[in-house]
Amino acid sequence: MRVNQIRDFVISYLVNHLSKDDVVIDATIGNGHDTLLLSDLSKYVYGFDVQQQAIETTQELLNDHQVSNYKLIHDSHENILKYVKDFKAVIFNLGYLPNSNKEIKTNKDSTINALNSLVRVMKQDSFVIITCYPGHDEGFIESEAIMKFVSNLDNSFTTLKYTVLNKNKSPFVILIEKNR
Ligand SMILES: C[S@@+](CC[C@H](N)C(=O)[O-])C[C@H]1O[C@@H](n2cnc3c(N)ncnc32)[C@H](O)[C@@H]1O
Repeated sequence: MRVNQIRDFVISYLVNHLSKDDVVIDATIGNGHDTLLLSDLSKYVYGFDVQQQAIETTQELLNDHQVSNYKLIHDSHENILKYVKDFKAVIFNLGYLPNSNKEIKTNKDSTINALNSLVRVMKQDSFVIITCYPGHDEGFIESEAIMKFVSNLDNSFTTLKYTVLNKNKSPFVILIEKNR
């Protein structure tokens, strides 16, 4: 499974579910590719990352594309609700930045803390979309924790998994939709 196929799925979901009226959140901006896409598909994007380098790289990318409908925040996605409480969508692309410090990566505790706070305020028709990477040890632990978390959400949510059935530990996507 190429990671690109996973990304294609995420992109097509975003294209089909976002509009220029929506406020959205990129919970892991990294090099800013998702932030740039979201700025094109929505009214306003809040981007979060714990690495100053990610903020600077993304800022440069958005400047290059003359984008202005965004705010980049150097903080953990655990603290999203300190900055924004009303949103249509939150996108997580977990793990570490390719070609960067692999020690700085998302982890089970902060990701579950973030999801826990988000599901408390999600409004009808909002969604969270998470790309998980169970291929490395911590990513596996994080992915298992996310699967447990989303499996236990009540039926005001629909939770889905987009996965490869015939290859172990491939990246996969989790979707949390708020129904009512
Ligand atoms: C796989 S990269 C994201 C790639 C990015 N979406 C892109 O399009 O380039 C994961 C990012 O999550 C960030 N990260 C790790 N822990 C975080 C946390 N608790 N809050 C916010 N960002 C975090 C890392 O610094 C890293 O930049």
